[in-house]
Amino acid sequence: MIEIRDIEHLFGELLDQIYDKELRAKTVSVWVEGCRQGGWENIDQLKNMPFTLLTDTHGVSFIEHNLAVTKGAIGLAKAQLETYGNLPYDIDMDRLIIGGLLHDIGKLLEFEPDGKGGYQKSLAGKCMRHPISGAVMAKEAGFDDKIANTIACHAKEGDGRPQVIETVLIHQADFATFNPLVMKNGDKLIE
Ligand SMILES: [Fe+2]
Repeated sequence: MIEIRDIEHLFGELLDQIYDKELRAKTVSVWVEGCRQGGWENIDQLKNMPFTLLTDTHGVSFIEHNLAVTKGAIGLAKAQLETYGNLPYDIDMDRLIIGGLLHDIGKLLEFEPDGKGGYQKSLAGKCMRHPISGAVMAKEAGFDDKIANTIACHAKEGDGRPQVIETVLIHQADFATFNPLVMKNGDKLIE
């Protein structure tokens, strides 16, 4: 069973940047509950899981993806906060980090081992894509609607929809890590 300390070990450097300790603990508990519901039993299983089934990830794992997207979103926020004399909107760093760490949490329910060493879409994943199941998980854990927006609207479900600024930054960081792989696999990444 994957426990609180396992998740803290994986994401400690980012969890420690969440100012509100209650929200930090809630973020960890959503991960623990997602692993339980998805049937992920140990950290190695989780570390081997690819972050998408839509393209060859060249070994980039789900855990690495969560770390990279969250760090990328923080970088985008800091670039504006430190550069603009007058930032026209407030960025909530707690919401940004929590959203980064939870944006793909629904994938714990969307994917499953295929029994041949790979991964496949689960029944739950066919019924609901991860932005929807992830937002449900966050709401069930007691997170507010704005955190739910960072999950529900971070991918194509959010196209043209109202979004909090943190969703915009997480979306851009997410696709900055996804699109190059799709381009590389389609021979469209100039190297
Ligand atoms: Fe993602």
